[in-house]
Amino acid sequence: MDRKRILLIVGGGIAAYKACELIRLLKKRGHTVRCVLTPAGAEFITPMTLAALSEQPVHTSLFDLKDESEMGHIELSREADLVVVCPGTANLIARMANGLCDDLATTLLLATDKPILVAPAMNVRMWQHPATRRNVARLRADDTVVMEPDEGIMACGEFGPGRLPESSVIVEAIERELARPIPARLLGVVAPPPPQGPLTGKRILVTAGPTHEPIDPVRYIANRSSGKQGFAIAGALAQLGADVTLVAGPVTLATPPGVTRIDIETAREMAAAVENALPADAAVMVAAVADWHVDAAATKIKKRADGTPPALALVQNPDILATVAHSARRPRLVIGFAAETNDVIAHARAKLTSKGCDWIVANDVSGDVMGGDRNSIHLVTTTGVEDWPELPKDQVAERLAQRIAQALTEQA
Ligand code: CTP
Repeated sequence: MDRKRILLIVGGGIAAYKACELIRLLKKRGHTVRCVLTPAGAEFITPMTLAALSEQPVHTSLFDLKDESEMGHIELSREADLVVVCPGTANLIARMANGLCDDLATTLLLATDKPILVAPAMNVRMWQHPATRRNVARLRADDTVVMEPDEGIMACGEFGPGRLPESSVIVEAIERELARPIPARLLGVVAPPPPQGPLTGKRILVTAGPTHEPIDPVRYIANRSSGKQGFAIAGALAQLGADVTLVAGPVTLATPPGVTRIDIETAREMAAAVENALPADAAVMVAAVADWHVDAAATKIKKRADGTPPALALVQNPDILATVAHSARRPRLVIGFAAETNDVIAHARAKLTSKGCDWIVANDVSGDVMGGDRNSIHLVTTTGVEDWPELPKDQVAERLAQRIAQALTEQA
């Protein structure tokens, strides 16, 4: 089986020392084990032993500032593929069944979005007590796997079920759990269902942001695009139900909900990502693609002693919009943007023809549009020009998304 990550919670019982053998076997099978030791567990075994065997840091306290800054407890509970409690004492099982979270182990068990397996170990009467029976039944009803303990002579001298199962049997149970689909209850918390709308079932490609064209390992050519308008458009299209792929240049914006984002740096990387994202029903090319790149130097270019500046030989980048508009896999609707500082409409009309697209969204970037929050645009199509009032970028996005939905449904 593939290598998996296991979060092992070691409870406080005489069987705690058997966690060592379990770690050894799991590591031999190629899995990674990260241990959490409860305060009661630490009475039987030391964090140092677990750290040495697992070759990972051992977590013991919910309020450890150093641990928390390196890996928060929520992250710790989520990064594993399976949480294993071994040994699962009567006390730990009771606290789990009741949803208590007053220490690190129980907090992780409540916060995790991964399946949990408990290997119980306790005195026979404790295992058979109606309270433990109730707690185990409750945990099983909540999708936690509680193994049956072994039967035999116990450390306390009594006989019956309550012994920790053999380590090899626990490993088998762990691998069985790892191979099983994750229970629906755990999947449900990940993401809300995508919105349904007029664009449900439509694939739309959006490019956004600037591109960075390296000069050497520390310098690059860039432009002032913030990516705000393109990100807002991607988000507005997803809100109408579209399956949106956003190819984004280097920006510091959060991915809009429901959007699949592919980060790129250069125009050539953007061209490749766009090609990979086809076919699509529509393409909206909002990115401010750098027109040129240079053959980047492998090491930092140094200043010359005589003061002569280095010459940068600019090489034209591929025109991504024109390539998509003329490709065999051309989306039904191809929309370009035109950032202009003068003769906005005339330049936009020229671009509509030269790039072979259906619409050009033209904006005057002579003011502070690039990086700002408002935009005043003209929608140039083969049939005419619409002048939109100056609007916040998210309203421009919503209006454009509605127009795209209308066009794709009319054409369908
Ligand atoms: N565009 C592109 N690939 C390029 C350059 C531009 O896909 N290499 C796209 C932009 O995403 C935008 C449209 O083409 O949708 C127009 O971009 P703009 O920068 O206004 O035009 P350019 O083609 O670069 O022309 P110019 O700079 O000469 O105005």
